[in-house]
Amino acid sequence: MFKKIHYDTLPSTNKYLKENYTHYNDHTVISCTNQTNGKGRINRDWTMKPGDSLAFSILLKPDLEINNIGLISLITSVAVFQVVNSFVSNAVIKWPNDVLINGKKVCGILIETTVTNKIEALIIGIGININNDNFPDEIKSKATSLKLESNTHYNLDVILDEILYWFDYYYNQHISGDNSFMEIYRKYSSVIGNDYYLDRRQVRVVDVLENGNILVKQNDEMIEYSYGELSLESSYE
Ligand code: BTN
Repeated sequence: MFKKIHYDTLPSTNKYLKENYTHYNDHTVISCTNQTNGKGRINRDWTMKPGDSLAFSILLKPDLEINNIGLISLITSVAVFQVVNSFVSNAVIKWPNDVLINGKKVCGILIETTVTNKIEALIIGIGININNDNFPDEIKSKATSLKLESNTHYNLDVILDEILYWFDYYYNQHISGDNSFMEIYRKYSSVIGNDYYLDRRQVRVVDVLENGNILVKQNDEMIEYSYGELSLESSYE
């Protein structure tokens, strides 16, 4: 299954794997207690609380031509969702791959690739707020932790193993042609049927497709957007 390697401090588990993936095998997981320069989607920063949050990256070196990062991002969010949902009753998935509880983000996922002719390494970075008791003022209204939502203290290693279990489960299903994770993704999607701003254009989300793209209705036109660099905003920002 997975070979797990833990470091005390790293700037970023994603960056570390991007620079060192040639030394590691497929299905290696790099985690750290203190991530000092974490990266988020859309060039954002990702901060964690050492000891209270999980920060790890899964390295995949797929045999198959996996060129669909969007779909891997959905698989990853469903794996995290399954674990979060076993502790709280109201978790949802916000496209592409945020897991939210009561409208606040508990997990973020950043997928990166190294490419020469084909994808050589797929790096799936996952950050989860687990035992945080509070958040800095700037993100207080947007971030939450499992502990804050359930009044329970969790063992980080157990949660990591559970997420890896579910990731492996859905990833292997996908490799064998079974994308039934999409049923869970759609069922718990917070965006399908709702209005958002996408790059400052108001859209209605119609569906999330099996290629990981989002299908939106903008004016009278149906448009597909990919995982890429887009973020759905609830207000005009
Ligand atoms: C986001 O929601 O913007 C994605 C956040 C991803 C954070 C994780 S923490 C582990 C891995 N290493 C990083 O530098 N980023 C990802």
